[in-house]
Amino acid sequence: MTFFFHPVKSLFLQKKNLKVYIETYGCQMNVADSELIASLLKEKGYSLSEGYEDADLILVNTCSIRENAEQRVRGRLKLFGSLKRKNPDLVVGVVGCMAQRLKDQLILEEKSVSLVVGPDQYRQLPELIESARNGQAVVQAILSSSETYDDIVPVRYDGNGISAFVSIMRGCQNMCSYCIVPYVRGGERSRDPESILSEIQTLKDENYKEVTLIGQNVDSYIFHGQETLNFHALLEKVALRFPDMWIRFSTNHPKDLNDHLLEVMSRFPNICKSIHLPVQSGSTTVLERMKRGYTRDWYLDRIQAIRRILPECTISTDVMVGFSGETDEEHLDTLSLMEAVSYDFAFMFKYSERSGTWASRHMKDDVPEKSKVERLNQVIALQGKVSERVKKEDIGKVFDVLVEGVSKRSTQQYFGRTSGNKVVVFPKGNVNKGDFTRVLITSCTSATLIGEIYEQ
Ligand code: 5AD
Ligand code: SF4
Repeated sequence: MTFFFHPVKSLFLQKKNLKVYIETYGCQMNVADSELIASLLKEKGYSLSEGYEDADLILVNTCSIRENAEQRVRGRLKLFGSLKRKNPDLVVGVVGCMAQRLKDQLILEEKSVSLVVGPDQYRQLPELIESARNGQAVVQAILSSSETYDDIVPVRYDGNGISAFVSIMRGCQNMCSYCIVPYVRGGERSRDPESILSEIQTLKDENYKEVTLIGQNVDSYIFHGQETLNFHALLEKVALRFPDMWIRFSTNHPKDLNDHLLEVMSRFPNICKSIHLPVQSGSTTVLERMKRGYTRDWYLDRIQAIRRILPECTISTDVMVGFSGETDEEHLDTLSLMEAVSYDFAFMFKYSERSGTWASRHMKDDVPEKSKVERLNQVIALQGKVSERVKKEDIGKVFDVLVEGVSKRSTQQYFGRTSGNKVVVFPKGNVNKGDFTRVLITSCTSATLIGEIYEQ
């Protein structure tokens, strides 16, 4: 999943002069959930505006995946507490994964907070907000086995008008030993394909050009309706129905990634050729302790399958260093795997023990912080070299690019992304935001490809 380490741009909602501000942390699922919350509140008569200093209600949509994600939010809650001292009527609410994990503990520990709502209880938000405004402390954090918010059309308040996330499933039940997600997001539920298709149709009608189908583990998508639909069948349906849109998806699980999916990807030019396949570790013994359900060899076999069936496909990953008991040799296995795969991109993390997980109950968080930092620095340095090498190989190639907007560095340049999810910057020429164009790559920086529109 993509992570937003900076709060995603915020939002005001107004109802009878009531202004609500939402700040979003964590993964794409949280971004999508904030769009649902915006829709639910708008439907109840609130209207949207921007800025937060004069808010009557602040909602922080939170992430629990690592301790530092929670610390960050706690820092923000302190800041919002100082606003509350000036304006005692201000209501501060925590929603999302921290709300689900900590429940009433948040009310006790964070003086500013009087509203705590977990990810499966957003339908009740309007009433819960009213109770909090009437001075009650409100905690609602019950997980559901069926909630998918099918009927709610998200309000894309912070998008670029071109590309949108569409949630296809919620929850996760892989139970990786380090991971808090199953506890804060509940079990897997897949969304009705008809509601997915109708949400994409709405986006298409609004001139969106790209959708990313999101879920904690999209390979587990399964919907039992008149026909039973698995993920690659859903993807095929979406690609067929929307031939003019680019279709992306995230996140895949190495244990479930099958050749059928890769074959569907190869048949449709509008399915983007990019796969995010979190490896976590290159060591089979660490993977076993993590309960990931695959070995190093299995993972490398899946990489070979991608290279064989989709030679142009980019591959990105998540890597975690310093998991319980990780030895120097096991760490070296991660480095050698990263070198062998040559990822286009990687998110890299230090293991952070999460209370309640299998690892926290059965294993020691025994890799010293100093070693975790050293190992993290090593994987970051290696990935830096690999990314640079891989980018240089693109010089001289021509890519289809979806133009997303004006480059931050120069108003004379656009930026966009290739099917493989690589960012490209190029002089504007005769194209517009939202167009598909072809770009010849002429050089690169460490993070970006640089090119020019390719005229044949
Ligand atoms: N500590 C550190 N990183 C974690 N991740 C998940 N749980 C933890 C944890 N306890 C990372 C994994 C996952 C990504 C979303 O976050 O790499 O793929
Ligand atoms: Fe997303 Fe997991 Fe963080 Fe929740 S804990 S926001 S599901 S990454």
